[in-house]
Amino acid sequence: MNSNRKLMTLDEFTIHQTRQFSNATGELSTLLRDISLACKMINKQVNKAGLGDVLGTHGATNVQGEEQMKLDVYSDQMLINVLRNSSECAGIASEENDDFVAFEDEYSMNSKYVVMFDPLDGSSNIDVNASIGTIFCIYKRVSPLGTPCVEADFLQPGSAMKAAGYVIYGSSTMLVYATKLGVNGFTLEPSIGEFCLSHPGMKVKENGKIYSINQGNTNKLNDKLKSYLNYCMDEEFSHRYIGSMVADLHRTLIKGGIFMYPADLKNKNGKLRLIYECNPMTYIVEKAGGLGTTGNENILDIKPQELHQRVPIFIGSKSMVEKAVEMIN
Ligand code: AHG
Ligand code: MN
Ligand code: MN
Repeated sequence: MNSNRKLMTLDEFTIHQTRQFSNATGELSTLLRDISLACKMINKQVNKAGLGDVLGTHGATNVQGEEQMKLDVYSDQMLINVLRNSSECAGIASEENDDFVAFEDEYSMNSKYVVMFDPLDGSSNIDVNASIGTIFCIYKRVSPLGTPCVEADFLQPGSAMKAAGYVIYGSSTMLVYATKLGVNGFTLEPSIGEFCLSHPGMKVKENGKIYSINQGNTNKLNDKLKSYLNYCMDEEFSHRYIGSMVADLHRTLIKGGIFMYPADLKNKNGKLRLIYECNPMTYIVEKAGGLGTTGNENILDIKPQELHQRVPIFIGSKSMVEKAVEMIN
């Protein structure tokens, strides 16, 4: 038996990266390990979703008036519990909670970081066994150490982000993680329960041939957006739309393309949330060489006004996003 294995686990990878910087403390790596642990627990429930009492609605609506699924609530609680016990997290804000949660024990109050997340993205796909995900991002708090974190810690522009990632519960489970050093993808090896490096140095193609939008909303779009969609059809781009942002953007990262959720007559600011969805996904895509914009400004430049703020988004291959922006303005 040969033990010269080639697999590199997420932990080994982050330790390796940390060693390259003499002043790195490893705190971000610890936080990432904690988040990945919560996601492995979520993955376990997702995988057996048809068997236990996992599918279906929870019977309540969240702060945004959306019906919560059982898995939305489970995933939210799992992330909160794990991060509350983490030595590196001062508090969290989640798509499923009205307000942010400050962890007020002594360890947490002395932690540097806050985490924002969409615990379960693509809820409408849970019951049909299609890909869903978890999205997260990490910021350094602006409030003083030793005190509970405050709302301002969560309302920082995306440009202040330290790291972001997502987990896709798909045909395999993958964690994609971005820092200023770049974007790397790790596939869960179920037999050892570890995420292992499978997609090092991910880059999004400069150009692509896939457009992704809920085209059923076309009648609610303005004329410029309609003509952009006509342009996509004239170019004979393929249309792909899963309805889970994580899955649509994972495809975009791997194959190139553009993903859009623009403003329309019903969703005046688009549908997707700045803090939990648009910011982390834009950070990841930009670190991979792509672009994310509202059509008027770069997503990461927006100073959030409130936790559950929504913004229009055009994101993906740089040339495709630039072309869209040119046509809709
Ligand atoms: P969530 O399940 O976290 O509420 O997010 C759903 C989002 C996103 O994942 C997806 O891109 C979009 O909603 C789909 O919306 P439509 O059904 O309006 O196309
Ligand atoms: Mn979502
Ligand atoms: Mn969600």
